[in-house]
Amino acid sequence: MSVKRVAINTGGGDCPGLNAVIRAVVTVGRERYGWEVIGIEDALNGLVDLDYRGPHGNRWLGVDDVRGLLSRGGTILGTSNRSDPFRHVVTDADGTRREIDVSDRVMENFRKLDLDAMVAIGGDGSMAIAKKFIDKGMKLVGVPKTIDNDLGATDQTFGFDTAIGIATEALDRIRDTADSHDRVMLVEVMGRNAGWIALHSGIAGGADAILLPEIPYRAEAIAELITTRRARGKNYFIIVVAEGATPQGGTVSQLEARLGEMPRLMGAAHRVAAALDDYLDDPSMRVTVLGHIQRGGAPSTYDRVLATRYGVKAAQLVHEGQFGKMVALRGGEIVAVDLSEAIAKPKVVDPSLQIVAQARELGISFGE
Ligand code: F6P
Repeated sequence: MSVKRVAINTGGGDCPGLNAVIRAVVTVGRERYGWEVIGIEDALNGLVDLDYRGPHGNRWLGVDDVRGLLSRGGTILGTSNRSDPFRHVVTDADGTRREIDVSDRVMENFRKLDLDAMVAIGGDGSMAIAKKFIDKGMKLVGVPKTIDNDLGATDQTFGFDTAIGIATEALDRIRDTADSHDRVMLVEVMGRNAGWIALHSGIAGGADAILLPEIPYRAEAIAELITTRRARGKNYFIIVVAEGATPQGGTVSQLEARLGEMPRLMGAAHRVAAALDDYLDDPSMRVTVLGHIQRGGAPSTYDRVLATRYGVKAAQLVHEGQFGKMVALRGGEIVAVDLSEAIAKPKVVDPSLQIVAQARELGISFGE
């Protein structure tokens, strides 16, 4: 089959490097293979309804449209982490919200636009949706993104390196003020149920303790560490808390999800601070929640290169007719893996990893 028209979309939460992938796919697709490339608006919303008009808009993309995009954060196509055509949320006249399956409509619109293939850039949720469209016959190649770095089958997703850079810089700033005020400072980072951002930024930022979703903590253990080190003369403490960190025997701190949305993780670091206060009675303790700052801004050099390499490989796979695949980083090479492999199991921090042992060796506590 000769590919002539290719769609590209970005799904799930944004992350630095999305535009770099778009640039690479459009540049290689147009210049090498002579494709027409259309950007689909807001994840799959632009295919659920061809009249969907958000601020970004479905649009045909030429090389002029992607010039200068390497350093630009966010995504020129817009994205959404609530766009699942298999569970599309509609609101009835009486205000009742319910989910319907509009995936056939997406397939129909795909055909209406005379598209041959799709490059879907997304995290675990978007890749799971992509797999369902592959099963419906869509010719699709996936590209793994997410600051959380929790996608299986790839050594790294793009966006992660930038996020840990931002979190580390924030910890450097927090250290200065913690030192000046002799304070215990807790810093909450993103990552959902994976502790990669917390682990890497915590090590790079010189944290005393790192609380991960994968290693449930005891506030008492952290309080003991602070008391012991204070007695030895340490005047300030930095505790990195993953948003998905849980106390032993407890549950994740989150808001109840609305229909069609993922539960929002919220309050993990404040909960640790409240628990620590029971032991330390320390009114100077402070919490900083980094939030979406970790997702914005220019991608790091590493992420620009990784995103570009992913984009080039995705275009090559489409050209070769290798569909149902996701591009992945394996030992320095960009390879193609079965998309089903990528979504089989999330990649979380294994507490027996060498990097965890090395952090412990250094005196970093995981709060056990
Ligand atoms: O998956 C990326 C991520 O930034 C998570 O780390 C975080 O829990 C979530 O998205 C936040 O999503 P939202 O943009 O809906 O607040």
